Amino acid sequence: MIYSLDQINKVARKIINALEDHKIICINGDMGVGKTTLIKKIGEFLGVSDEIHSPTFSIVNEYHCNDDNPIYHFDFYRITNVLEAVNLGIEDYFYSNHLCFIEWSENITALLPEKYLNINIKLTSESQREISFESYDRRK
Ligand SMILES: Nc1ncnc2c1ncn2[C@@H]1O[C@H](COP(=O)(O)OP(=O)(O)O)[C@@H](O)[C@H]1O
Ligand SMILES: [Mg+2]
Repeated sequence: MIYSLDQINKVARKIINALEDHKIICINGDMGVGKTTLIKKIGEFLGVSDEIHSPTFSIVNEYHCNDDNPIYHFDFYRITNVLEAVNLGIEDYFYSNHLCFIEWSENITALLPEKYLNINIKLTSESQREISFESYDRRK
């Protein structure tokens, strides 16, 4: 699906509909392609009142939404070694059963739980992106 910024509401809703019981949502694509922008919009629809931005000084941001559950937002752009993430206790978050939105999950693939929603965003022009998503369940 190809979208421009003014269609992002529709895209965010589509992703929310695809969540079902997924707690782990991986979002991959080049720098500046729109991963954080999409997470912002999804968060807005889920009732997050905190400001959503990429974790810069830490690896994870924690947000709160109207159902009282935390939402975790990771950015593994700078992670060069899976052990770094393990040492930060990342797996505790992944298995917390709370929503985890993960930018650059491809840098920590080995740590991902068996089941996750994988979203890919590609730049097709200055103002348009192509998004695809797919549910993974390695138990099946
Ligand atoms: N169709 C689109 N979808 C998402 N972002 C877009 C789109 N067109 C332009 N943009 C712009 O691209 C930039 C994406 O930045 P950001 O979401 O921080 O990227 P990332 O997190 O992937 O590095 C934003 O400035 C946003 O306004
Ligand atoms: Mg980002």
